[in-house]
Amino acid sequence: MNQFFSRRDFLAMSAKGVGAAVISYGLMGCTHTSDKAGFLHGVASGDPTDSDLIIWTRITPKNEGDVVVSWEVATDADFKTIITNGETTTNADRDYTVKVDAIGLEASQQYFYRFKCGKKYSEIGKAKTLAVGSVDQVKLAILSCANFPAGHFNVYKLAAEIGDLDAVLHLGDYIYEYRNGTYASENAKSLGRESKPNNELFNLADYRTRYAQYKEDPSLKLLHANVAFINVWDDHEISDNTWLEGAKSHVDDKENFNARKEAALQAYFEWLPLRPANPGNNNEIYRSFKFGDLVDLHMLDTRVIGRDKQLDYQNYLNWNTKVIDKERLYVDLHDSNRSMLGSEQLHWLQNTLVSSTSKWQVLGQQVLMGKTYLPEPISSGQLSISEYIELNNLASLNQRINQNDINITASEHLAVSENKERLTENVIAQLTMPEIPFNLDAWDGYPYERELIYSTAKANDINLVVLAGDTHNAWANDLVDEQGDVIGVEFATSSVSSPGLEVDVVEGEENFTEEMLVNMVDDLKYLNIKDRGFTVVTFTEEQVKSDWHYVDTILSTQFSENIARHYSVISKAESPKITNN
Ligand SMILES: [Fe+2]
Repeated sequence: MNQFFSRRDFLAMSAKGVGAAVISYGLMGCTHTSDKAGFLHGVASGDPTDSDLIIWTRITPKNEGDVVVSWEVATDADFKTIITNGETTTNADRDYTVKVDAIGLEASQQYFYRFKCGKKYSEIGKAKTLAVGSVDQVKLAILSCANFPAGHFNVYKLAAEIGDLDAVLHLGDYIYEYRNGTYASENAKSLGRESKPNNELFNLADYRTRYAQYKEDPSLKLLHANVAFINVWDDHEISDNTWLEGAKSHVDDKENFNARKEAALQAYFEWLPLRPANPGNNNEIYRSFKFGDLVDLHMLDTRVIGRDKQLDYQNYLNWNTKVIDKERLYVDLHDSNRSMLGSEQLHWLQNTLVSSTSKWQVLGQQVLMGKTYLPEPISSGQLSISEYIELNNLASLNQRINQNDINITASEHLAVSENKERLTENVIAQLTMPEIPFNLDAWDGYPYERELIYSTAKANDINLVVLAGDTHNAWANDLVDEQGDVIGVEFATSSVSSPGLEVDVVEGEENFTEEMLVNMVDDLKYLNIKDRGFTVVTFTEEQVKSDWHYVDTILSTQFSENIARHYSVISKAESPKITNN
C-alpha cells in the first residue's frame, strides 16, 4: 500500500466507487480499538503551502487489521466551520500512521484539525497556510538534535510558547539511532528516558519503535500540535555521519547499509508530516516553500542523496611527527568531483536560486556552511580545546620567560616549571601550525561545491541566509567566498538536548572558550557552546533578525528561559550585528 494517502487519492477512490466500501469497513476497523488504544502519539502538521497542509496522527489499535480514521479541518477550534474532511485507512503496513494532504485551503489562514476513530477523538492541532503576494513578516523557529535519553525536551516546550510562528524548521537528528545506555545517556535511567528499543536501530521495527517513543514525549507533541513543521533529516535518522553509501559507525557492507537506510527512511516518512517530493521515493526530500514575496525557503539533503564519504584526518596524519599532510588534504578537499548535494540536487538548487524572486533566499539544511578553521591539534583531535588553550598559554609564558620578561609573576614561573615536560619540541611546533577545517563532515569538507553555491548567489545578487543544525551549538557566521567577499549570513541553532562542545571544555571555562573561538575564527561572529536551545529567525523587508533562546536545564521538567541574544542583518551580505532588543 502506498504509505501516502491524500485527499486527492480519497476523492479519486470515491469516484471509482471505492469510498463506500472504505466507510463501511471503517466502522468495523474502529471497533478494533480498545480503551487503552487511541491517538497516543499526538497530532502534527507539516509542509504548508498557500493552499495545502499535511496533517498527521497515529492510531494505536488493540488488534491487527485495517483501521479507518476520519479527519476534519476547520477555521475554528470548535469545528463549527469545517472546510474539508474525509476518511482514510491505515494498517500495519504503515505502522498505523495517518497522513493526509488537506488541499484547497486559503492562503495565510490559521486552521484547526483533528482525527476521529470510533468514539475517540484526537487532540486538536493548529497550523497556518503560507501567504501569497505581499508579506510583512515571516517568523520561523529553527530546531535540531533531540536526543531522548540526554534529557527532557524543554526546548520543544519553550518553542511552543511562541505564538506567532509561521512554521518550525526541524533540521534533523529528530531521533538518535544509538543503543540504550550509550551516547549522552548518563541521566537516562533517573529521568525515565532510557531508549527503546534497547538495541541500535537497524531494521524497520527498530526505527518505528524509536519514533513511537519520541512521539509520546509531551513537549514534542505540544509543539507539533501548535505549529506546522518543515522537516529534513540529518545523519542520526539513519546512522552517525551518514553519506551516500555508508556511515561512520555502520561497519557492515554497502548492501546492508542500503537495507538499513531504506528501513530508516520508510519510518521517517511514516512518522513525520512531510509531503513526499516524489511519492514512492523515500530518498528525495529537497524541496522549496514560498512565503509570499518575502522568503523563498529551500530545504536541502546533505546526507543521503549525493554526499561523498567524509575525509578523515587519520588518513593524512604522519604518525611520527603528528603532523597532517596538508598538501594532500587540500588536493582531496578541493577535488571538483567531490560532492555534498549530488549533481541533480545541486543543479536544482542553482536553478531555483536563479529563478526565485523573493527578497530573501533561505537554505534550510543540516551542516555548518561557514568556514570554521581551528588550530591543527584541535581539528585533528590530538588536543581538546581546553588542552590547547592551556598549552598555548604555557608556551607563550615560556617564551616570555626565555626573553627575560620582567613582568612574569612568581605563579606564572611556577606554572611553567611544573609543566616543562609537556612543552616538548613537537608540542610547541604543533601549536604554531596553520589552522585547518574543524569539521570535515560539515561544508568545510566539501569546499568546491560550497563555492559553486556562493558563486550562484553572488552572480545573481541574492540575499542569502543559510540555516544549519547538526553541531549542538549556536553560531552566527559570515559566509565568505574564496575572493574574500561576504556572500551571505548563516544562523545555526543549538540542540534540543544533545551535548555540545562544552564536553570538550573544562567546566567554568565555557564563556572564555566561546570568546577565544570567536576571536580565532575570522568569519565567526557569535558562538554558544553550552546551552540547549533553539533559534527564531524573523524576516522583514528591511532585515533578518535571529534570536537565540536557551533553557537553563534539561534534567528537570521545571526550567526557565536562560538568555536570548539578538542579532540582526540589516541587508544583504552584512555581518550579523548585536542589537539590544
Ligand atoms: Fe545531532
